[in-house]
Amino acid sequence: MFSHLDKLPADPILGLSALFKADTNPEKVDLGVGVYKTAEGKTPILGAVQQAYGRLCADEGSKVYIAPSGWPGFTDAVAKLVFGDDLRANLGDHLAGIQTPGGCGALRLAFELIAYAKPETTVWVSTPTWANHVPTLAAAGLKHKQYAYYDQATASVDVEAMLASLGDAQAGDVVLLHACCHNPTGADLAVADWKRVSDLLLEKGLIPFLDMAYQGFAAGLDDDAESVRHIFSAQPEALLSYSCSKNFGLYRERTGALFVKGTRADTKDALGTNLARLARENYSMPPAHGAALATTVLEDSDLKASWIMELSSMRDRVNGLRRGLADAFVREGCGERFSGVARQTGMFSLLNLTAEQVAVIQKDKSIYFPSNGRINVAGLTDENIPYVARAIAGVL
Ligand SMILES: Cc1ncc(COP(=O)(O)O)c(C=O)c1O
Repeated sequence: MFSHLDKLPADPILGLSALFKADTNPEKVDLGVGVYKTAEGKTPILGAVQQAYGRLCADEGSKVYIAPSGWPGFTDAVAKLVFGDDLRANLGDHLAGIQTPGGCGALRLAFELIAYAKPETTVWVSTPTWANHVPTLAAAGLKHKQYAYYDQATASVDVEAMLASLGDAQAGDVVLLHACCHNPTGADLAVADWKRVSDLLLEKGLIPFLDMAYQGFAAGLDDDAESVRHIFSAQPEALLSYSCSKNFGLYRERTGALFVKGTRADTKDALGTNLARLARENYSMPPAHGAALATTVLEDSDLKASWIMELSSMRDRVNGLRRGLADAFVREGCGERFSGVARQTGMFSLLNLTAEQVAVIQKDKSIYFPSNGRINVAGLTDENIPYVARAIAGVL
């Protein structure tokens, strides 16, 4: 049965990590996988999460199964964080929520729900989008089209081109949008542009699906949720996949959630039970540990305040590195070519480099990032910024 299945090529980004590890150059820099790193290159357990861990160890008392809907209180706590108290209350039973194994699990479950409800659905994705979006929707049996998004020349979103290409979408199509900290470009829509996009979706009967993996990394928890709050207020139907991997530092615990707003007054039960069934068929119930930690943090005012401070300091560090790198590019004679790096948000920036230039930088300078030019800004340090800027300027 399996003899025709050959070895697959390494995942382009995960494969880079292995190459980085094997590299003996003491100046090597890893700007590949999108995880937060301290100045010492560590991805630590956040203090608030560590404290929640202590409490959980003392109190958990059982490892019996949790429900397919997740750890008690988790989706409620995340819903308040992302929608805010008022909108959460207004959505009432028009909102269904389920805990998922990470943001990826939320994406997959959402695509399966869409495929189950309407198998012929087309999902529109940004050009470019995160490398895992299209494989995940395709694995659920959906097809996709691309809408214009990033303008390399201005290193920002080309809103006119985006609206024009979404003009070709048909009623009932789903539009996948990055709620903040667009991966891979780092370029987000301004608040006013979210309103224009939302108006077009309403006018054409398109269904927004927001993917949020970096709440708190752009400008702050509430600012970053403006997109979600506007869309979920204005649209009759909407989806949100949510990841706690980055903002709680819970990567390996696979902690995420999926929320779906529906038109029916009993959406919470109607879609909630459908989501639970899909979860049951896939993995039965989600892992408990990460959701228990996030819930403990969000439900305790002291832990929550301390987590918000840690999140702010992660955000400030990445934004400081962005400014440092943009300045270093100017010092290396690149002019304004990379000035967008300082304006962009989140972990990533897409540098305007060819795959050949990226390969030369990797081979000659041991700086590792994917061939599309996406760098994980959090992998920089004040010390390695001059080296990285010089290496990149050197291949232009
Ligand atoms: C845009 C986007 N969506 C979803 C995810 C999924 O995150 P998780 O690790 O929680 O599955 C990521 C993670 O990198 C991401 O960048």
